Amino acid sequence: MSTIRTIGVIGAGQMGAGIAQVSAQAGYQTLLFDSVKAAQEKGMASIAAQLDKAVGKGKLADADRQKTLGILKGTASMSDLAGCDLVIEAIIENIEVKTKVFAELDTIVKPEGILASNTSSIAITKIAAATKRPSQVMGMHFMNPVPVMKLVELIRGLQTSDRTYETCREVCEKMGKTTVLAIDNAGFVVNRILVPMINEAIFVLQEGVKPEDIDNAMKLGTNQPMGPLELADFVGLDTLLYILHVLHDELGEDKYRPCPLLIRYVEAGWYGRKSGRGFYQYS
Ligand code: 3HC
Repeated sequence: MSTIRTIGVIGAGQMGAGIAQVSAQAGYQTLLFDSVKAAQEKGMASIAAQLDKAVGKGKLADADRQKTLGILKGTASMSDLAGCDLVIEAIIENIEVKTKVFAELDTIVKPEGILASNTSSIAITKIAAATKRPSQVMGMHFMNPVPVMKLVELIRGLQTSDRTYETCREVCEKMGKTTVLAIDNAGFVVNRILVPMINEAIFVLQEGVKPEDIDNAMKLGTNQPMGPLELADFVGLDTLLYILHVLHDELGEDKYRPCPLLIRYVEAGWYGRKSGRGFYQYS
C-alpha cells in the first residue's frame, strides 16, 4: 500500500505546475516550490485558470475545484518540503543544476522521503549518486501538457529499490496516468525516438522546405496531432538542443548530432512559444 500523502514539486514552470495540478487533483497534499516567488505565483495562477476552464466546460465540479485548490499550496522556501513523502523535481534540464538541487533536497527532506526527477534525458543513476539515499531516487518523466497526456515514463537508476519503483508507479496510477518502465539510457523511450524525428524535420527545413509543409505532411500523413516543428516550439528549442547533446554525447552516434539550424535558433534566443518566436511567431 502506498505511503504517499504529501507531494512536493520543485519548479513552477509549465511541467512543474502541470505535475502539481494532477497531484492535487489525485488528492495528494501538494506543495509547489519555486525559488523565484513570481514564478511560483504564476504557476499557481495557471493551475487555478486550468481548473476554472474545466469547471466552465462542465468537466470538473466546482466542489472538486475547491477541494483541489484547498490541498495545493505554493512556497518559495525549500525547507517547507521537509515533511514531503515524495518530491518531484521539474527544473531546467541541466545536470549540474539538477545534481545540486538533489544534494540540497537530500539534506532537507525527511530520510524516508522519495526524490524523483522529471528529467527528460539525464541518467537517474547519476542524479541518485548526488544523494545519500540513492535507493529512494526515481525518474518520473511526465509529458507536456501534463494534465492531458496519459503517459509517465518511469526510470529506475541502478540503485533504485523495488519499493521506490512500486510506490512511484502507484502514485502515477492514482494520478490517472499509464506508466512504462524505461531503461536508464539517454532519452529513455519517448525522447530517444521523438527528438531525432524533430531534429530530422529541422534538417528538412534547413534544406528549404516550408515549416507549414513539413508540419502538414506529418499531421495529415501520419496523424500526429502537432507537426514536428510546431511540437518543437511547444517543447522548447533550448530543451530539445540539450536533449540532442545528451543523446549525442552518451550514445556517440552521428544520427543524434543537432541540426546546425537548431543551434542557430537557440543562439538567437528563438526558443519557441515561451520566447514568442521559434519556427513560428507567437503573439
Ligand atoms: N494544459 C492543460 N490542458 C490543455 C493544455 C495545457 N497546456 N493544452 C490543451 N489542453 C486541453 C484543452 O483544455 C482540451 O481539453 P478538453 O478536451 O477537456 O476541452 C484538450 O487539451 C484539447 O485541447 P485543444 O482542443 O485546445 O487543442 P488540441 O485538440 O489541438 O490539443 C494538445 C492540444 C493536447 C496539446 C495536442 O495538440 C497534442 O496532443 N499535441 C502533442 C503533444 C505532445 O506530443 N506532447 C509530448 C511532447 S514530448 C514531452 O513532453 C517530453 C519532453 O521531455 C520533451
